[in-house]
Amino acid sequence: MAELPLQVRDHDQTEMSAAVGVLARGMRDNPGHIAAFGPDPDRRRSALAAMFSALLGAVPTLERICAEQEGDIVGFAAIAPPGTCRVSLVQKMKIASSIAKVMPGALPRVLSWQGIWARHDPDEPHSHFGPIAVDAGRQGHGIGSRLMTEYTDRLDAAGHLAYLETDKPENVTFYQRFGFEITGEAAVLGNPNWFMSRKPATR
Ligand SMILES: CC(C)(COP(=O)(O)OP(=O)(O)OC[C@H]1O[C@@H](n2cnc3c(N)ncnc32)[C@H](O)[C@@H]1OP(=O)(O)O)[C@@H](O)C(=O)NCCC(=O)NCCS
Repeated sequence: MAELPLQVRDHDQTEMSAAVGVLARGMRDNPGHIAAFGPDPDRRRSALAAMFSALLGAVPTLERICAEQEGDIVGFAAIAPPGTCRVSLVQKMKIASSIAKVMPGALPRVLSWQGIWARHDPDEPHSHFGPIAVDAGRQGHGIGSRLMTEYTDRLDAAGHLAYLETDKPENVTFYQRFGFEITGEAAVLGNPNWFMSRKPATR
């Protein structure tokens, strides 16, 4: 069956709840989210929706790319441009208080996870990629690859180093297809996590 037309473009401020829905549904079953937010899928989705809604609201400097199909946002990625990924204490507190409202018990686990990621953050200026998700039920049909192509084209045009974290081995393979290489590995809440970076293509 032919794939439906897909448009990859900048994400608009008015489409925030659609983006949060895609992230919360699409990332609901990632191992790190099960470890942080527990075994109940609906509670995990709610906690992720609260966390991503707070993140996108508290950090206005994030660049956002989306994939649209038949009028629906089906994929979404956020990017912290170089020099912006270390969020302020106020931003951290806004995000933490949103998580605490829906699942207070998860907060220490989220802080531990974020602390490990922060310790691996490279010192050199970098474009910090993520979160990215394709909606549940739409994964594996090339939508994420289209978002990555758009992102890596932008990286190469700007000459930016890129960096990301991931908690799934299949994602490592996915990112390697777009030029990312593993630069580190650590256990986060009992799961392996990989740290990856990508140099811009020389022109
Ligand atoms: C990772 C993700 C964005 C990739 O987008 P996608 O549209 O599913 O991927 P594509 O169809 O373009 O590419 C397929 C490749 O993605 C990888 N992949 C990772 N998770 C996958 C999934 N749930 N379903 C299918 N492919 C997946 C595989 O390497 C796959 O290659 P293969 O078909 O040779 O096995 C998407 O699967 C997703 O949202 N996953 C859940 C949330 C997540 O893990 N986000 C990234 C956090 S770092």
